[in-house]
Amino acid sequence: MKILIVNGPNLNLLGKREPEIYGSNNFDAYFQKMKASYPQIEFQYFQSNSEGALIDKIQECGFSYDGIVLNAGAYTHTSVAIADAVRAVTTPVVEVHISNVFQREEFRHHSFLSDACKGVICGFGLESYRLAVESFLV
Ligand code: DQA
Repeated sequence: MKILIVNGPNLNLLGKREPEIYGSNNFDAYFQKMKASYPQIEFQYFQSNSEGALIDKIQECGFSYDGIVLNAGAYTHTSVAIADAVRAVTTPVVEVHISNVFQREEFRHHSFLSDACKGVICGFGLESYRLAVESFLV
């Protein structure tokens, strides 16, 4: 099984960025541990601050991978283009958020991606990613 994990803008700063919201662990350390607990899964990780690069990666893996876990960061709330990319590919995509976006500012309550995705997981900290991976195993 092949799963792509995609992180969007500012998620390269996890651990340093607003730790009261996103926690103080960096993603790489979390990802290494998570990877080790799923030896049967081949993971690819991709992070970019650029909308086009995120779309290119979704297109590149979206016809051959078994699942994509997508945290599009702020593009979640703005990007019709990423939503179209999710709709264009055949690989199911699960939208994730570290924070519970519904407890935050109103503009974070709307996602352009959710209705194009298989499901949405938010509010469980970095464990949101593991729960999304689990969703591809059931
Ligand atoms: C986020 C929530 C978004 O609103 C925000 O812009 C992010 C991170 C999350 O994981 O909680 O960059 O996607």
